[in-house]
Amino acid sequence: MACIGVFDSGSGGLSVLREIRKILPDERYIYYSDNAYCPYGEKTADFVTSRARAVTELLLSKGAQAVVVACNTATGAAIANLRAGYDIPFVGMEPAVKPAASGTRSGVVGVLATAGTLKAPKYLNTKGQYADAVRIAERVGKGFVELVENGELDGQHAEAVVRASLEPLLAEGADTIVLGCTHYPFLLPLMQRIAPEGVRFIDPAPAVARRLRDVLAMNGIPVGEGPGSVELLASGPDTTLKKLFKLI
Ligand code: DGL
Repeated sequence: MACIGVFDSGSGGLSVLREIRKILPDERYIYYSDNAYCPYGEKTADFVTSRARAVTELLLSKGAQAVVVACNTATGAAIANLRAGYDIPFVGMEPAVKPAASGTRSGVVGVLATAGTLKAPKYLNTKGQYADAVRIAERVGKGFVELVENGELDGQHAEAVVRASLEPLLAEGADTIVLGCTHYPFLLPLMQRIAPEGVRFIDPAPAVARRLRDVLAMNGIPVGEGPGSVELLASGPDTTLKKLFKLI
């Protein structure tokens, strides 16, 4: 059985943990919500890197053999630093521009992400590879992280917040929308209700889960045999974390 650390600025990374546990149900997971410092999306890359290092050290002290950076913003800001600084494998989020670019019929891909992710070199490189083939429309999901951290996944206010960022992408002709922040899948049912039929939303979490399985194998970290468990930790209050964990 492997011991795997998973972290995010808050509860969003639970959307990644959900996919990981589908294919690796028998491992020991330590999930860390750094919600005392949430959101990461508007903070500097240096700040996010220092938080990512502090959280990694805590996960290592609890026995993590591999760490999943279940946060697009922290992946963009810090994964190179983490890989250089610690002797364990790290798996980060990949913005799913590639599958979106091959799946779009309208030729317009929408990307919803945090401000930090949209300006990270990692994302800009990925985007550059597809810029000739498709048009990429971007929006920060303004207020989405706060909705999820408040456990507010539905209702009039949540709908107005989601519409304000999603509708401009739809108006630009996007028929395929990349969920570039791990908090956003918790708002997917709401987004699907707002978007016209035929619009596809792409969550990279299942691909990240498969990548983790491969990385564990490549590093000789044995998996399986259980008993699977999840320990939930947070730097701030853990009420929403516990509530959203019940949904996954
Ligand atoms: N869930 C995170 C992400 O994937 C961070 C959101 C935030 O803290 O701004 O980008």
